[in-house]
Amino acid sequence: MDGAAPTRPSITEDLSAWLRQGFSTLWPDADLSGVAIEAVPTADERHGDYQANAAMPLAKVLREKPRAIAERFVAESAPHPLVASMEVAGPGFINLTLDEAALAGRLDAFGPAGRFNAPEPGRGRSLVLDYSSPNVAKPMHIGHIRSTVIGAALDRLHRFLGYRVISDNHLGDWGTQFGLLLIGFQAWADREAYAQDPIAELERIYRESYARSQEDPAWLEAARVALVELQGGHAGHRELWESFVASSLGEFERIYQRLGVRFDLVRGESFYQDRLAETVDALIQAGIARESEGAVVADLEPYGLPPCLLQKKDGATLYITRDLAAAIYRYRTYRFDRLLYVVGAEQSLHFQQLFKMLEVLGFPWADSCIHVPFGLIRFKEGRMSTRLGRVILLEEVLERAVELAHEIIREKNPALEHKEKAA
Ligand code: ARG
Repeated sequence: MDGAAPTRPSITEDLSAWLRQGFSTLWPDADLSGVAIEAVPTADERHGDYQANAAMPLAKVLREKPRAIAERFVAESAPHPLVASMEVAGPGFINLTLDEAALAGRLDAFGPAGRFNAPEPGRGRSLVLDYSSPNVAKPMHIGHIRSTVIGAALDRLHRFLGYRVISDNHLGDWGTQFGLLLIGFQAWADREAYAQDPIAELERIYRESYARSQEDPAWLEAARVALVELQGGHAGHRELWESFVASSLGEFERIYQRLGVRFDLVRGESFYQDRLAETVDALIQAGIARESEGAVVADLEPYGLPPCLLQKKDGATLYITRDLAAAIYRYRTYRFDRLLYVVGAEQSLHFQQLFKMLEVLGFPWADSCIHVPFGLIRFKEGRMSTRLGRVILLEEVLERAVELAHEIIREKNPALEHKEKAA
């Protein structure tokens, strides 16, 4: 804590001083110095918030019955702004109930609303936070809730601590799925279904296109070509792709709004397309990557890591290439003190490879890049897979959670207004 720590007396001290003042005003001639007059929190909230037990020991000094002393105090003492009501109980206990608004006002006095003089160790520091980051053209499933919720919590915590936070939803909008999607869409899209529920239609198309690619080498080849064309700037593909991204984002946004999550940036992998060639070059220059049968591969064996592919022989780039370019771009743009990736533990190797390559490239900030992992949600039959139709959609989980909450409210609080229930 810095020097701004509150110096005002605690509630107990405040109430105790008021009690002492009250008793000596009402009995000016008595010597009360030998009696401990203080307020103590009640053990049982049915007796109010605080209680004063002084009437019992005062009985001797004042030569009156404790109950009479307590009753006179309650009737005649000057009010205290924190005390909403007083009541005499038993032989002479004075029970005090505090006023909620006055209590809240007291909290505000500790600093600007909601801060309570908390320190801000992040002042002057910045954080880039990569989280949620679902893949376009697929629905968000239960596996996405953790990156989204853990990321949003880290976002708020760091802002509270004074960091400048730049949150970025690094959408998967440039991967291999688009080759299959593009040719599948051109072949079988049901425009009406697409307008109604775009992600469901894209998912259907993807599933069928994938199945076909497993049996039909010509189809697989066509998908590969379409991907290279898209990444190379083919206008027709680009237009379709833009529509896939826009409609997916619209769907994701519904979930984000419901969860109260917002991003400063929604860049997506595609944003880095123009920087990929120079990134691959830099890795070749640094001696980490080399050409191998037309493809570019990074050799990480000296660092105890498996090699990784940076560019396919047709020129198509990979997820990790885009992550390399993104990290470098983010540092140049934001000079972050930290870059956090909130991503499942199944990608740990990916991040080890990524951070190692940044380090070997000579970036001193490479060790400020941190993977924040979390466990995988699995079914008995294996991991979740949109492609295999083995998936629990996030929206359904949220719907169900609301339903269950409704049931509990209906049971425990049936009289609540509809609006309050919904809230
Ligand atoms: N789109 C990826 C996935 O769904 C997650 C991306 C995480 N962020 C990153 N910079 N790699 O698995």
